[in-house]
Amino acid sequence: MSGVNEIRSTFLDYFRKNGHEIVPSSPLVPRNDPTLMFTNAGMVQFKNVFTGLETRPYSTAVTAQKCVRAGGKHNDLDNVGYTARHHTFFEMLGNFSFGDYFKEQAIELAWNLITREFGIDRNRLLVTVYHTDDQAFDLWKKIAGLSDDRIIRIPTSDNFWAMGDTGPCGPCSEIFYDHGDHIWGGPPGSPDEDGDRFIEIWNLVFMQYEQVTKEQRVDLPRPSIDTGMGIERVAALLQGKHDNYDIDLFQALIAASVEATGVAAEGEARASHRVIADHLRSSAFLIADGVLPAKDGRGYVLRRIMRRAMRHAQLLGAKDPLMWRLLPVLVGEMGRAYPELQRAEALISETLKLEETRFRTTLERGLTLLSEATSTLHKGATLDGETAFKLYDTYGFPLDLTQDALRGRGIGVDLSGFTDAMERQKAEARAHWAGSGEAATETVWFELGEKVGATEFLGYDTETAEGVVQAIVRDGKVVDSASAGESVQLVLNQTPFYGESGGQMGDSGVISTDDARLVVTDTQKKGEGVFVHSVRVEDGVIKVGDAALLAVDHARRSRLRANHSATHLLHEALREVLGTHVAQKGSLVAPERLRFDVSHPKPMTGEELARIEDMANEIIVQNAPVTTRLMTVDDAIAEGAMALFGEKYGDEVRVVSMGTGVRGVKAGRAYSVELCGGTHVGATGEIGLVRIVSESAVGSGVRRLEALTGETARAYLAEQDERVKSLAGSLKVQPAELIARVEALVDERRKLERELTDARKKLALSAGPGGGDDGVREVAGLKFLGKVVTGVEPRDLKSLADDGKKSLGSGVVAFVGVSPDGKASAVVAVTDDLTGRISAVDLVRRASEALGGKGGGGRADMAQAGGPEGAKAAEAIDAVAGALAS
Ligand code: ALA
Repeated sequence: MSGVNEIRSTFLDYFRKNGHEIVPSSPLVPRNDPTLMFTNAGMVQFKNVFTGLETRPYSTAVTAQKCVRAGGKHNDLDNVGYTARHHTFFEMLGNFSFGDYFKEQAIELAWNLITREFGIDRNRLLVTVYHTDDQAFDLWKKIAGLSDDRIIRIPTSDNFWAMGDTGPCGPCSEIFYDHGDHIWGGPPGSPDEDGDRFIEIWNLVFMQYEQVTKEQRVDLPRPSIDTGMGIERVAALLQGKHDNYDIDLFQALIAASVEATGVAAEGEARASHRVIADHLRSSAFLIADGVLPAKDGRGYVLRRIMRRAMRHAQLLGAKDPLMWRLLPVLVGEMGRAYPELQRAEALISETLKLEETRFRTTLERGLTLLSEATSTLHKGATLDGETAFKLYDTYGFPLDLTQDALRGRGIGVDLSGFTDAMERQKAEARAHWAGSGEAATETVWFELGEKVGATEFLGYDTETAEGVVQAIVRDGKVVDSASAGESVQLVLNQTPFYGESGGQMGDSGVISTDDARLVVTDTQKKGEGVFVHSVRVEDGVIKVGDAALLAVDHARRSRLRANHSATHLLHEALREVLGTHVAQKGSLVAPERLRFDVSHPKPMTGEELARIEDMANEIIVQNAPVTTRLMTVDDAIAEGAMALFGEKYGDEVRVVSMGTGVRGVKAGRAYSVELCGGTHVGATGEIGLVRIVSESAVGSGVRRLEALTGETARAYLAEQDERVKSLAGSLKVQPAELIARVEALVDERRKLERELTDARKKLALSAGPGGGDDGVREVAGLKFLGKVVTGVEPRDLKSLADDGKKSLGSGVVAFVGVSPDGKASAVVAVTDDLTGRISAVDLVRRASEALGGKGGGGRADMAQAGGPEGAKAAEAIDAVAGALAS
């Protein structure tokens, strides 16, 4: 029963049998605590349950919790590799009572587990209690039968556990194991307590208080229990080892490292193998939980851990990247208990390989510089801060890597010199942006960025998180607080709100604190990675330093995700249908629609658009997972990722892939692969559907597509469908017969129009009912047909004049038509036998003059003109007759 996996399941099963709910480990990046860098204890996910803010459907729970202690209050990084029990990553087994049982049952459960289930020799166990906790003292005596000298009262903070400066806390009782007098050390509280003989294996915290601020401590609503047992320690004990690194799990990792490097785990190499084994665990688990190496924040802690391990790989003489090769062993050991490790294996592997490949290019040179700079230094000396900073800035050596490299020689680093060098560099950067002509309103963001650092973006993995307010800006000025009714901008240390970039609009949502409620209307990225939340304070007062709960508008973000992913699919489909000349020229990802501009020389045909849309929908239906990897720009482009020309990318980029190609060169390969920092759907099926609604020109050689996805696309189609149905209803046919019916109607209408025109013409030429004037008279010996006609379109006047010529045989025709808006059109026609002496053009000009127009045009046999004064139509006819007579 002593393998790590068995110990874990025995622990969980034991508490399950005792009525506890088995709750999965929470992620290493705490969702509910802005003050914590990483989850560092089992109780972190239950923090708000202890304080009564949150309720769960169970009152007792048991977990095996992933923990990282590197950065923040609990930081063990520097010691890892050199001691028997320090780790950056470890697992904490714990049982919890949320106002259910308290001290007595906690002690009973713990004692029975270790002495009965684990079979630990009770004579080797002793415990500590907080010096004033008589109750715990008596309970240990009663339940475990321990003699007074084995229940040690400790007056220090060692026996008062707190998660951090604030949060739930309480007195605690720790169980120790005596490894025997062959090892040096004294019991807890004795002068020799730092020795290794008495090892703490389990901490039972009697959660009773909440530390609200540094000064204020209040009672929890109900006394509760939080316990923590490091699995690595208890495994060592159960496996008869004294050193955590000798347990089965670490031995498997160390054996893999030994095999890969060919260097035995002895002497100096021992620490290196241990560092590699430990750091592989923390790196892999952090990457699986969404942390990727970065310049600051959590990503930088990960980078420090990885690079520290990589230096040790180099010390072992590894010629190629090593860490990723050990990963399968870790996944084999821990993947069943933590399936996220299996799911993220490819991402972890690539990230490790990438970081190590990149770092190797500067590691050697940095180490040479370091050894030159320290060649004359002796034990106890310090390396100057300037060199340490150069190693940091130019060679990518985190400070702790430099310290670690010098540790063996007893050489320190001048930390204040390092800080000074860093400050000088910042001052230069400041001078640069201050002189770059940025508007005054923008420099405030650079200043803030320098003061508070870049904002950590958590929004790839979560839409709600806590953050600490770091700055409030009102009208371009930094202020301390803002109250109800005010609109201000807010900067926090971390945020799930996406800041507008890459065409994707910023998130909106809600921010709340104990004292205030704010509506976020927009989020932008300013300066060097500062996320600026535009907010309206609805209620209360918000102050710098407040802890706030940030919640992105989920529905809106979901639509943004779908539209962004659909843009990628359309991009690839456009290239497939139109050719690879298609490149992105601009894009807008809004919640209600997407707009995508691409280079293409001519309008797309209906058939092309239909194919593009079909292809994108084909990938949507695959419901393929959307994967994100971190790569160098060069590697990403070599892999065929689409990048935007002229866009500035960092050294490492996110590469988003989705779908599997169905035909052509992409068949069986990733369909869309793009460099992208935006947020995307988890699987393509979440897009639902994409519908192109318009295609237009935006400039020469650039076409614009607009499209809808998901519910918006469905609503659009439903509306179109409604229109078709109501149309079919009006025409009294089935929708399927609509086209034929409309075509028939159009034909019929054309026919009717023709008939109507003919009838009108006839009417115009005839004498009319009752036999009136047919308009024919004799002028200067010629037949003249002059008439004001109504109901005839101007375009039909010419053919009417032709008809007139025919009826005269020889003569002159003049018609003036008046349109409903009062304008007149005139046409004059002359039969061919007369065109030698009479020109229709001359005559129509007279008509035009009379109508207030500016002449007309045509040929001698037929000419046309117009004029604004339709009321003078009869005078125009007379003017033509007059001209003919003279
Ligand atoms: N929360 C307690 C600890 O971390 C159990 O030791």
